[in-house]
Amino acid sequence: METDVITIDGPTSSGKNSVGFLLAQKLGYQYIDSGSIYRAGCIFILRNNISPEDLEKVVEVFKNLKIEVKQNGMPRFLANGEDVTDHLHDPEVTALVPQVAAIGGVREATKVIQYQLVNSNKTVMTGRDIGTEIFPAAKHKFFLTASVEVRAQRRFKQLVEKDSTVTYEKVLEAMKERDRKDETREVSPLRVPEGAEVIDNSNLTVEQTVEEMLKQIQLSS
Ligand code: DC
Repeated sequence: METDVITIDGPTSSGKNSVGFLLAQKLGYQYIDSGSIYRAGCIFILRNNISPEDLEKVVEVFKNLKIEVKQNGMPRFLANGEDVTDHLHDPEVTALVPQVAAIGGVREATKVIQYQLVNSNKTVMTGRDIGTEIFPAAKHKFFLTASVEVRAQRRFKQLVEKDSTVTYEKVLEAMKERDRKDETREVSPLRVPEGAEVIDNSNLTVEQTVEEMLKQIQLSS
């Protein structure tokens, strides 16, 4: 199964989603963003007023989480039968998700969901631990990154459209903090998977990044 999964890991705002989606389209693969699974669980934690400190209840939410991904165009995420796509990036969800994703039991439950979603389909999967923990034997692994300043600029552009009081400096600080949390957490810290091709896309467009990946895939096929 693992030979048909292409893994793309990398830090926040490294362009994984746009790149992963376009690469999947070019190859005729399904596209799954694993971060959306953690985010979907957080929507239910918030809705049910579950404290993130209540580990048992938090893990229970993920054990009961039924995810479906509809692949017509940009994938739509269904959680327990409900289309939650438009709420995955709500600020409360974004604030909660790093804490929840650091819980071992949550990661065990999402691992099961990730295997079910792949279910031997050809898949491009993006995340933080896909090439290290979830599909370590995948034939094609990528680690996508960009300088923290470039990533903060990308995020700032998205945020300022919704909230004109946002400043670049604040976004940059928050991004450095997010990176620190993702890289230093005890469970599945973000790191370059063994055998992964590292692509710094600070100066590349989405299309150029995908071209680079397609070249690498051809070379190693
Ligand atoms: O990529 P993203 O911002 O949607 O990820 C949301 C959070 O989930 C982020 O804190 C990292 C975490 N995550 C993870 O720990 N493992 C993954 N495979 C994907 C995301």
